[in-house]
Amino acid sequence: MEKTFLMIKPDGVQRNLVGTIVSRLEDKGFKLAGAKLMQVSEDLAKTHYQEHEDKPFFGELVDFITSGPVFAMVLEGENVIDTARLVVGSTNPQQAAPGTIRGDFGLTVGKNIIHGSDSPESAEREISLFFDDSEILDYNLSNSAWIY
Ligand code: GTP
Ligand code: MG
Repeated sequence: MEKTFLMIKPDGVQRNLVGTIVSRLEDKGFKLAGAKLMQVSEDLAKTHYQEHEDKPFFGELVDFITSGPVFAMVLEGENVIDTARLVVGSTNPQQAAPGTIRGDFGLTVGKNIIHGSDSPESAEREISLFFDDSEILDYNLSNSAWIY
């Protein structure tokens, strides 16, 4: 089954939104395959966001993502990469639809609560950047027959 990488950013952790956000993703039907609270190093931040290294906000982005713990997750589910991005909402929380995580909890693009991989290539890259193979679990949820 498809997997994606999601990360609750330092603002989401500081605002006590970890439980709420994980609940929304579980409620949707996605399965947690891996999860951990962690401090992102400057090196990891720069590698993770390397596609944005020429953007004027790159320094701010690296400073922000390393400013406190993040909650990193691997989620599994049918079409999870695109569908989790829909649950997350548009990059700018002011334009994100109500009902989405960014639409309900964010107000500025610099502090938009959560990251989600945007393609199969970035999901694979980001999962292996943040997780060891041994941290990703293969198991069945008893309710899966009621989702699929
Ligand atoms: P991620 O899931 O975090 O990758 O967001 P995204 O895929 O919806 O957006 P994108 O990859 O284009 O941008 C990465 C992150 O850079 C965004 O989530 C924002 O937090 C941040 N960002 C984008 N534009 C700006 C900006 O103009 N100013 C600042 N400070 N941050 C920005
Ligand atoms: Mg992105």
